[in-house]
Amino acid sequence: MTGRRPDAAGRRALALYRDAPWQERAHVHVRWWSAPFRRLVTLLPEAGPVLEIGCGHGLFSAYAALSGERRHVVGVDIDADKIAAGAVAAARVPNLELTVAPDGAVPAGPWAAVVVVDVLYLLPADAQRALLAAAAAQVAPGGRLVVKEMGASPAWKVRWNRWQETLSVRVLRITEGSATFTFVDPSVMAGWLREDGLTVTATRLDAGRVHPHHVLVAERAPA
Ligand SMILES: C[S@@+](CC[C@H](N)C(=O)[O-])C[C@H]1O[C@@H](n2cnc3c(N)ncnc32)[C@H](O)[C@@H]1O
Repeated sequence: MTGRRPDAAGRRALALYRDAPWQERAHVHVRWWSAPFRRLVTLLPEAGPVLEIGCGHGLFSAYAALSGERRHVVGVDIDADKIAAGAVAAARVPNLELTVAPDGAVPAGPWAAVVVVDVLYLLPADAQRALLAAAAAQVAPGGRLVVKEMGASPAWKVRWNRWQETLSVRVLRITEGSATFTFVDPSVMAGWLREDGLTVTATRLDAGRVHPHHVLVAERAPA
């Protein structure tokens, strides 16, 4: 199993934030240790244009860029403060751009990969559906959409995750999003992506972790 300790590219990505205020440094470190970034980066193509929707401070985008110099990674988020913080770090990585995008907007592709990590649960189900359809439409032939969200089981991990998100979004206000969370069952989301013409593989990523991490890899057939 790929570990959670930062590899060389992960250490370089985290080090990009060394001059940031302590809250941002702490945030990116918590993101690293709580999300399965090392597994997720292996799901991206080794080269080509990659879009991350909802990149936050840009840690995963930076990691994807630093671990694959033939990728050109663009990260977008609705939160201008996070993008401003991330842009300082991104300035040190030639194959990385971070930019603000309006809610629901998907920059035009074609993208070799579009990746969405722990964003959709902040949106109502119909907005999740619409954002995935818009993202799928920008995936190049032979490309893929990688969607990391939380799974629907086991119950204790689902409860733990809800508690932590309530703290992060409603109490500490670290993350922008609606007042409620909508965790769509991955099997439902996979159905949406199949309706959009993609071939979907679903994988649980929660072994050895307290969060019910789950990823969908949705591939568009080559031309
Ligand atoms: C939990 S954070 C995840 C950030 C990053 N993907 C990561 O894994 O570290 C969720 C992010 O989604 C962003 N977000 C929420 N709604 C969004 C939307 N409609 N479009 C783009 N980003 C959005 C938030 O601003 C926040 O930065």
